[in-house]
Amino acid sequence: MSAIAKAIAKALATLQQRAPHLQPRIAVVLGSGWGGLTDHITDPIQIPYSDLPGFPQPTVAGHSATLWLGHMGSQPVAVMSGRQHGYETGAVDGMAVPLQVLQALGCHTLVQTNAAGSLQLDMPPQSLMLITDHLNLAQRSPLVGLSGSTRFVNMVNAYDSELNRLAAQVVQAQGATLFEGVYAWALGPQFETPAEIRMLRLLGADAVGMSTVPETILARHLGLRVLALSFITNFGAGMSSENLSHAHTLSQAQEGSARASRLLADIVAALP
Ligand code: HPA
Repeated sequence: MSAIAKAIAKALATLQQRAPHLQPRIAVVLGSGWGGLTDHITDPIQIPYSDLPGFPQPTVAGHSATLWLGHMGSQPVAVMSGRQHGYETGAVDGMAVPLQVLQALGCHTLVQTNAAGSLQLDMPPQSLMLITDHLNLAQRSPLVGLSGSTRFVNMVNAYDSELNRLAAQVVQAQGATLFEGVYAWALGPQFETPAEIRMLRLLGADAVGMSTVPETILARHLGLRVLALSFITNFGAGMSSENLSHAHTLSQAQEGSARASRLLADIVAALP
C-alpha cells in the first residue's frame, strides 16, 4: 500500500470511528472570511486536521485547521475549515488526500469558497460572485505526476451549470445580488501588479485570487461536482486607491461574513 493510500485509509477509519452515523454528501471548503458557515451546522462534530493523516496544517492567519461534520438543514455535510494554498510550500496538491477521503466517505459535490479581488468596476467589495469558469494563470496542476488516461480531465462545465442555476435561485429568493464570472488563479502570495490586473481584465477574468483552482481540478479528477463562490474583498491592484494587504482582506471578509455564510448555508441545504 502506498503512503498516500495508507493516509487515506487511516483518516477514513478515524472519521468513521468519531462520527459513525454521519454520511456527508456535500464537502465544503471554507476560504478567508467564510468561517461563519460553521454556525449553521447542527450537532457538529469537530476533528482537528492534526488527527487526520494527509490533511494540511495551514500557516495562514484567518484559516483554521478543523474538519466539521454535521447537517445543514437536512443535508449531511463535511466542512473543511482551512485549506492548503500553493503559495505556502509551492506544492499545489495539498488538498488531494482530504478530497479523496471525503469522496470515500460519500461526498459527491464540492462547494468551494474564497476571498477574491474584483476586476469589474461594477462589482465592488462585499459582492458575492458565483464562479462560472477559471483561468489557471499559475499553470500549475495537482495532477502532475499521475499516470493513466484519467489525468486528462475534461474541464468543460467544471463549475456545474445546474448547481450554479440552483444557487442563483436560492440567492434571488432572498432578494440578494449574486454576480457571476471567471476566476483567475494567481499563485501569490504577493498581490498582483497594476499591469497584471490590466492584463487579467483583457484576458476575460472577473475576479482574481490565490486558491480554489487546484481543488477544482482535483475534484473533477475524482468526478465530484463543483460549486464555487468568491467573496469580493477589494478591487484589483491599481483599480482603486485602497491599499491591499492580508489584514485588509480579512477585515473586509469579516464585515460581510455573516450575510455570505447565511446565503451559503441556504444554498448547501438546497443542493441535490
Ligand atoms: N488578489 C489576489 N488574491 C486576493 C485578492 C487580490 O486582489 N483579494 C483577496 N484575495
